[in-house]
Amino acid sequence: MSDKVKTIGVLTSGGDAPGMNAAIRAVVRTGLSKGMKVKGIMRGYAGLLKEEIVDLDSRSVADIIQRGGTILYTARCMEFMTPEGQQKAADICHKHGIDGIVVIGGDGSFRGAGKLANLGINAIGIPGTIDLDVACSDYTIGFDTAVNTAMQAIDKIRDTSTSHERCSIIEVMGRSAGYIALWCGIANGAENILLPEKYDGNEQELINEIIEGRKRGKTHHLVVNAEGVGHSTSMAKRIEVATGIETRATILGHMQRGGSPTAIDRVYASMMGAMAVDLLDEGKSKRLVGWRDGKFYDVDINEGLAMQKTLPPYQVEVAKLLSH
Ligand code: ADP
Ligand code: F6P
Repeated sequence: MSDKVKTIGVLTSGGDAPGMNAAIRAVVRTGLSKGMKVKGIMRGYAGLLKEEIVDLDSRSVADIIQRGGTILYTARCMEFMTPEGQQKAADICHKHGIDGIVVIGGDGSFRGAGKLANLGINAIGIPGTIDLDVACSDYTIGFDTAVNTAMQAIDKIRDTSTSHERCSIIEVMGRSAGYIALWCGIANGAENILLPEKYDGNEQELINEIIEGRKRGKTHHLVVNAEGVGHSTSMAKRIEVATGIETRATILGHMQRGGSPTAIDRVYASMMGAMAVDLLDEGKSKRLVGWRDGKFYDVDINEGLAMQKTLPPYQVEVAKLLSH
């Protein structure tokens, strides 16, 4: 009984993602329902090191499930990367009675959670990133909303691209992962999808396909380009010169990280938040919550971080087939 987690700290870390608020709400309300205290740690590990810690009750998380961003704010923190910073953070947790912590973020944030677990703070990670680049989970909080936001923006670009009979290059987020680009490429019916995991830099092939498409009577040509490939603006200039077709580049940027979460992000984030607290209540630590094979599961942090993830080959194949 004395080993039971009594006080949970919850923080968001790394890039924010729509649905993080739903996860925070679930952590708070599940924790309270089990008789635990719940504390919000502001601004990720940076706020932890500055003792920016607030008590959370059920009302603190009212009216947030529909809101993008994170009510706890988020940050990146160099000091926490050092062993001294990690020890200081663990000491602060002890000082505030925090014996369990839920970290909502990506791989970097989970590495930090693993360090806290090694220092005696029961730690659980929840995947929160629009990039979907967490290997142990086929779902990450915010991806669905980000794809829908980008898809709607690209539909609008398609309208004007068609009116002007242009080529449009639309750059979507994904630091080094092509998941948002792949999904938008299919959802928006793009003519080309440039993925960092696949693109070989053969711009001439792209130019030839744009020229061929125009010859076949295409009135526009949409290229969805992933941030990891980048260079959309200079690419557009080169394409315009080489094809003689007016070409514009649009970088969607941070609009993809904001906005009201979709139902999927609200519900999955809620489930993951509740499960993280259940794991702590069961005395588990150093675990990540994930979604695989149609169900939620948990895995050791180090095992999860060691997993590899590749773009689904069949999805890539279908995306290519449908674009022609
Ligand atoms: P994400 O969690 O989205 O991958 P980052 O890689 O920026 O985002 O990591 C978020 C924060 O997690 C970093 O600013 C740092 O404080 C912490 N972090 C990242 N890597 C480590 C590590 N190896 N050890 C301890 N803390 C880390
Ligand atoms: O990891 C999420 C993400 O939005 C990436 O897609 C992007 O490369 C990065 O964060 C941008 O980070 P920042 O908000 O610091 O510019």
